Amino acid sequence: MSPSTRKTKEHPVPQHIAVIMDGNGRWAKKRGLPRLAGHQAGTENLRRIIRACVELGVRYLTIYAFSTENWGRPREEVDGLLKILESVIERELNELHKEGVQLRHIGRLERLPENLRRKVTDAIELTRNNDRLTVIVAFNYGGKDEIVHAVEQIIRVGTKPEDITEDLISQHLFTVGIPDPELVIRTSGEMRLSNFLVWQAAYSELYITPVLWPDFGREELIKAVNAYQLRNRRFGLLEEEPPKD
Ligand code: IPE
Ligand code: IPE
Ligand code: MG
Repeated sequence: MSPSTRKTKEHPVPQHIAVIMDGNGRWAKKRGLPRLAGHQAGTENLRRIIRACVELGVRYLTIYAFSTENWGRPREEVDGLLKILESVIERELNELHKEGVQLRHIGRLERLPENLRRKVTDAIELTRNNDRLTVIVAFNYGGKDEIVHAVEQIIRVGTKPEDITEDLISQHLFTVGIPDPELVIRTSGEMRLSNFLVWQAAYSELYITPVLWPDFGREELIKAVNAYQLRNRRFGLLEEEPPKD
């Protein structure tokens, strides 16, 4: 635990942090590099953030790596992003496994090339009993698509309308079993969710920083966690009276 991290009883570290890793393209452009160099730098940063999450005691880290909308980017960039995912698994899997990281995927694997799909499912299988930190990779993920998928499943098994509850819907999302994120971070300053965790982030605290993802290191993460710890989460209720002593 870093001494600069406030961790009091009332303001614990979030157990689930979700990150919209945005700004790789702008990071590369500023340096006169191709966009893929920005994605590569973003991937290297991920290692720092995973380490920092382990250090802070975060239990779940969800990372938005590729949205259902990102298929619309130029072919070269899409292919590059698929390759990056593949090489990250190849390079980092053993180390992550050793560190006790469990990997999960949210989104649809169907559209990914067969060999990449297999690498993802093998990585999930290998790490399934790890429990230090769960890293949830949102790849070919869309929040609306996730809800469509859940509704399909709910209807397919003949669920009665009166049995449909918020809990039941949550159980059919890709994130089944994972608590909702307390904190959603977006780098690079855009003030939107871009189809990320539209159900699960209903009551998340949002932290948006102009820092571009490849530059968002450990200290920036700690700043975000500290900002979260000062938030007043009311969930639609009234302010709590400070306890009288
Ligand atoms: C985020 O960086 C990563 C992905 C969407 C895959 P961008 O590629 O969106 O970077 P900017 O927003 O163009 O700077
Ligand atoms: C969101 O970033 C998706 C990921 C970070 C994977 P985008 O760059 O695709 O989102 P927009 O276009 O700014 O909404
Ligand atoms: Mg972007």
